[in-house]
Amino acid sequence: MLVLGIETSCDETAAALVTDGREICANIVLSQLDEHAPYGGIVPEIAARSHIEHLDGVIARAMKEAGAEFGDLDGVAATAGPGLIGAVMVGLMTGKAVAAVHDLPLAAVNHLEGHALSARLSDADLQFPYLLLLVSGGHCQFLAVEGVAQYRRLGTTIDDAAGEAFDKAAKLLGLGYPGGPAIERAAKDGDGARYDLPRPLKGRKGCDFSFSGLKTALLHKVRALENGLDDTARADLAAAFQQAVADVVIDRGKNAIREFLAAYPKGRALVAAGGVAANSLLRTRLKSLATENGLTLGVPPHALCTDNAAMIAWAGIERFGQGLVDDLDAVPRARWPLDSTAKPPPGAGKPGKLGPKA
Ligand code: KG4
Ligand code: ZN
Repeated sequence: MLVLGIETSCDETAAALVTDGREICANIVLSQLDEHAPYGGIVPEIAARSHIEHLDGVIARAMKEAGAEFGDLDGVAATAGPGLIGAVMVGLMTGKAVAAVHDLPLAAVNHLEGHALSARLSDADLQFPYLLLLVSGGHCQFLAVEGVAQYRRLGTTIDDAAGEAFDKAAKLLGLGYPGGPAIERAAKDGDGARYDLPRPLKGRKGCDFSFSGLKTALLHKVRALENGLDDTARADLAAAFQQAVADVVIDRGKNAIREFLAAYPKGRALVAAGGVAANSLLRTRLKSLATENGLTLGVPPHALCTDNAAMIAWAGIERFGQGLVDDLDAVPRARWPLDSTAKPPPGAGKPGKLGPKA
């Protein structure tokens, strides 16, 4: 089975061809970073217009690289949300057009399901159920992945996502966008022990996250610098910030693993996916955490961690394998939780109520 995947939920225009034998025949990602850079963040209207301009060309490149014709396809999978609504519409409509013209089954894929199942694309041995840490620019959650289209959320962030926190911290430190890789680079030369930053929610029960207090604490440290933000302070603060995020994720992870294993004693793996899972310190710490708890750690390769269409094509393959096919009237969605039964975490949207422990 050969499936075309299309991803346009944010600022990457992406197309990929993947087989049910886990061969990634093409995986093209065109970043819009330069188009948004002058505005200091992603402009939804620019994202949508840029997807319109580039998506056909990106799909054509992917088809050429894979040496495939539309007639060779067995299905089309396109991200249908969550994301910037105008951006999602472009990819989903294009996917529908390809499906309609070539009479192919369509998978209208939840972007988060793409991340959640990406580890099964890179690891054929990864079995359900597994515990997923989904850490990206828009999400920070622990989910029990019971099977395709079956997810139970164990915890989520009550304010910022981890990637968002990295991006905001990088901006504060004058380190550019995207912030995660910039902080990781700067932190290499830094002494993380020089500045004391809080670990929000550390030691509390449950496995929800909070990062906004950490970002504010960083802002205060920057303002208090006597000699201004020189390269040494920048590196030390980047290292301190990265360590604080990792400490929080590991603390929350301990509780998540306990909850997961209590509900799914047969679970054997912890999987980290999403852009922040590319962070080396976090990977190392997660590896130790998994090992201490008798679990394996699965992290997809970097190109499958950050936004890409191969994971969308793969999610389509998994869904088709379960007989899940979407109609051509599938709707694009700005919001689309993987676990629609999950309640908002306590304190969500109430700033100050669950601040850092003293
Ligand atoms: O999954 P992704 O590509 O897009 C979303 O769906 O959000 O994640 C992007 C996020 C950005 O916030 C970026 O700063 C973060 O992932 N990121 C990292 C690293 N690489 C990307 N964060 C920390 N360390 C990294 N090496
Ligand atoms: Zn993503």
